[in-house]
Amino acid sequence: MTVRILGISGSPRHGNTEIALKEALAGAAEVKDVETELYSIVGKTLNPCTGCFKCGTEEATPEIPCPQWGDDDITKLVRRMRDDFDGFVIGNPVYIGTISAQIKMIFDRAIMMTEGGRLGPVTLRNKVCGVVISSWDRNGGHDLAAIDTWRWAILHDMIVVGVGPERIDCNNYWAGCVVQAYTPNHPDGGKGIWWAKANSLEERTAVKFDTLGLAQCRNTGRRVAELAKVIKAGFDSLSREDTYWPRGGCGGFEGTAWGSK
Ligand SMILES: Cc1cc2nc3c(=O)[nH]c(=O)nc-3n(C[C@H](O)[C@H](O)[C@H](O)COP(=O)(O)O)c2cc1C
Repeated sequence: MTVRILGISGSPRHGNTEIALKEALAGAAEVKDVETELYSIVGKTLNPCTGCFKCGTEEATPEIPCPQWGDDDITKLVRRMRDDFDGFVIGNPVYIGTISAQIKMIFDRAIMMTEGGRLGPVTLRNKVCGVVISSWDRNGGHDLAAIDTWRWAILHDMIVVGVGPERIDCNNYWAGCVVQAYTPNHPDGGKGIWWAKANSLEERTAVKFDTLGLAQCRNTGRRVAELAKVIKAGFDSLSREDTYWPRGGCGGFEGTAWGSK
């Protein structure tokens, strides 16, 4: 049995968040029969939710679930999240103490997979979600970025995981948290050089020195894969009658709000 894990980078650059995500996906791939893929928002057209709620009306179709923006890159992404993957590692760069506006756009537009949306109802349900976060500073806002991501995941009935059993060894329970500055392994300790070097290759790859944070990422990815596999195996071994709800979305409940889509 194969499970598929998608890493989504919410950074508008190919940089540190991707390094963190690649480490997490490498951890996921340590679990047998796990396939991984990295998705970056770089170069993608990201349109914000306008609050039109057309995704919950007859104007929406399975092909064009967001009549406001059509089959744009976010629609394509969330459809693939629904159809092709069992778990996710969401990669956030910390922007002003929390997630980036770009990742928030994806979170908002994923409303088309909740109860009322045309890609729903609740079709990310029982998929697994872990988080990695990259920031400049040691305490730059990882916690809030993680919490904001978890809340989104829980809203979709996804199952949130942390770092897993190696958490003591890698000094964090909650998520893969890497930093660019003051990494002990950086040749100059990372002290205060970053504005001067902003957007250089050195700055965009600085987290490679944060070996402790990268270990957190690897462990988080492995934990996502482990649980995704267990959940898939669990549903595979049960008949539909064994569970109150079906495996994924809550279709098949005709006559209820969830069954009407
Ligand atoms: C608009 C903006 C806001 C930022 N806010 C914070 C912040 O609040 N705390 C912090 O530690 N770093 C902050 N940073 C730095 C990024 O979090 C950091 O450089 C991160 O590693 C970038 O990831 P990337 O290389 O994948 O783009 C900010 C960067 C930008 C561009």
